[in-house]
Amino acid sequence: MIFFFDKSFIIILLINLLYSQCIAENTCFPSGFKIGVASSAYQTEGAWNVSDKGINNWDTFTHGKNQGNSNEDNTGDIASDSYNKYKEDIQIISDIGFDYYRLSLSWARILPNGFANKISEEGVQHYKNVLDELHAKGIEPFVTIYHWDHPDVLDKLGGWTNELMVDYFEDYARIVFQEFGSRVKLWATINEPNINCLSSYSTGVYAPGFKMPGIGPYICVHNMLKAHTRAYEIYDEEFRQINNGKIGIVIAGFYHFSVEENDTESSDVAFQYESGWIAHPIFSKNGDYPPVMKERIGENSKLEGYPRSRLPEFSPDWIQRIKGTSDYFGLNHYSSNLVKSVPKNPITGWINDSGIVSSVDKSWMRAASIWLSVVPKGFRSILNKIKCEYNNPPVFITENGYSGYANESDIQDINRINYFYSYIEEMLLAINVDGCNVHRYTAWSILDSFEWDMEYKERFGIVHVDFNNPNRTRTPRLSASWLGCVLNRRKLISFDEFNANRI
Ligand code: BGC
Repeated sequence: MIFFFDKSFIIILLINLLYSQCIAENTCFPSGFKIGVASSAYQTEGAWNVSDKGINNWDTFTHGKNQGNSNEDNTGDIASDSYNKYKEDIQIISDIGFDYYRLSLSWARILPNGFANKISEEGVQHYKNVLDELHAKGIEPFVTIYHWDHPDVLDKLGGWTNELMVDYFEDYARIVFQEFGSRVKLWATINEPNINCLSSYSTGVYAPGFKMPGIGPYICVHNMLKAHTRAYEIYDEEFRQINNGKIGIVIAGFYHFSVEENDTESSDVAFQYESGWIAHPIFSKNGDYPPVMKERIGENSKLEGYPRSRLPEFSPDWIQRIKGTSDYFGLNHYSSNLVKSVPKNPITGWINDSGIVSSVDKSWMRAASIWLSVVPKGFRSILNKIKCEYNNPPVFITENGYSGYANESDIQDINRINYFYSYIEEMLLAINVDGCNVHRYTAWSILDSFEWDMEYKERFGIVHVDFNNPNRTRTPRLSASWLGCVLNRRKLISFDEFNANRI
């Protein structure tokens, strides 16, 4: 007997076959899953003194290191020159085939005085041009309002330790929504308050370089959480209906593996002190800081003779307002570490305020950044932790990437491809097997750029930038072409398979 099938039936059958194969191999992305790439303003733009742009905190900080002498090697004065080369960058992003581009705005380019009484027409026009160019190439813009750079005048007033920053940020955010709201449907308010506040006000390796451990970072995060909430409220009340977009916050998170086998506590405590510090007030059922932080910092403060906890308190009104102010959980995840609990000492209290000490497993491969060990399984673990802790919120991976050394001739960046492969593989297990609600994956970073305290010594770009060449010539690395292949086939592809199909 002969059966005749029409063509569409066979196509559907083939699609189903391929789909079940990629499910079995754990290589497929859920339908509608989006893949993008990211950068930030100070790290890439350069053009530090064009038109009427104001001086920002990082201009002052990096110039201060050179005692007033210009030195391209350790400032973002030129950086990757993306302010001038944005069309070339967007062409590269489009050639690779990314769905979206996560970029940030320079506050001092938009409000040169820091305050809302003067808006720079040129600054605003620049970003309109960038956004229009993205739309023209069919790339969705994902805009971070604040990725660590703000007008220097605000630092002179205390920066993020000044509660008025909440008002200044609110004014800036409103202007940003007014100017760009029709062009942007996806917003992030603040990038990684935890890392920013610790590095700016505890270790002092970021602008403004203050060392106030145990005090500065807690005040900084407190104000950032309020500033984030105000921006979310403004978007909700004044713009959401017209612009119909989403807005959330970006949180940094390692996964913390307990060193001791039967220790279930230390991993959780370490999570609460890192990601939970920001996430608990926003995503948990009860809001406010994680109880373990309130308890332990309170106990330490008492032992140290402070009249109140060094961790500021939210009023009941703020606790309610902050809760729920994120349409997605933005997660920047790069690495993991090992943790161990140290019991409270009756005289000195909790070590590090948390009672946790951390280390790394010497067998883990390390990237160029000292903090970046390659531990893919931690990715699946932190996604599961977020799922359990906050009732499976929609998660956007807003950064994930691997650093190489500046002196390597590393266009053939196979280590980076292996990193991306193994991390994406774990993310897909978290999605397809564990049911984690992940919708987007963003590779960090499109370009080599100014790596904050590491200046140009570490390179995260999937595109190499020649910082010795005044043209800042761009050369896509092999990882760019591998990601292009993944995007094209919408499937995780091993290096070997990719390599075999290369011409
Ligand atoms: C930051 C980026 C930075 C990356 C690598 C992230 O924490 O958001 O700005 O380049 O880490 O250091």
